[in-house]
Amino acid sequence: MTRLNKLVIASNNQGKLRELQAMLTPLGIEVFTQAQLGISEAEEPHPTFLENALAKARHASAVSGLPALADDSGICVAALNGAPGVLSARYASGQHAVDTRSHSKITDQQNNEKLLRDMQGIADRRAHYYCVLALVRSANDPQPIIAEGEWHGEIAMQARGEGGFGYDPIFWLPELGKMSAELTRDEKAQISHRALALKILLGRLNSMLKND
Ligand code: IMP
Repeated sequence: MTRLNKLVIASNNQGKLRELQAMLTPLGIEVFTQAQLGISEAEEPHPTFLENALAKARHASAVSGLPALADDSGICVAALNGAPGVLSARYASGQHAVDTRSHSKITDQQNNEKLLRDMQGIADRRAHYYCVLALVRSANDPQPIIAEGEWHGEIAMQARGEGGFGYDPIFWLPELGKMSAELTRDEKAQISHRALALKILLGRLNSMLKND
């Protein structure tokens, strides 16, 4: 395998881009975003995080000719049978169809308000963030590198905190006594679902490079 020194991240989510860039740049990997390379957003039509991540990575790699890393992530609430799940970014649209272009019209605040409404009167507040990362070295890579991470917490009763993005103002971490939106960027980058998935991905990459 050739040295992985350039990578396109197949995401337009500013929060995720900041977090992934902060973790990859210190490793000497030159990171491009798909927006920088003029790559359009891929559809995310699949019912699983894994299939959506692979679809995004393949698309970015096919268009750029570079290795591509995509993440698909979301929040899964135990009492809601795993919802919002793959629909996390567009939960408040009430839409179960596939039109990912409507993403940007839904705000984090609308999603949080809907989730708090749906959780009214529910005592079981358990939830977890899930992240899967898929790295393809080419669009037809038969052996993508896959890594997953989970971060467990609870859905709070009301929003608090200014940090992070998405559901962070309502994601309560009982062991820390804080919302994830009350963590610093560095603190979140140590323990989040994405950080865990990335740590696993980097471990796999390193052992592949050693065996090369
Ligand atoms: P994706 O862009 O399809 O992967 O959608 C991910 C969505 O899940 C985001 O728009 C957020 O709503 C939610 N999400 C994923 N990771 C996080 C996180 O670290 N904090 C808060 N919300 C997150």
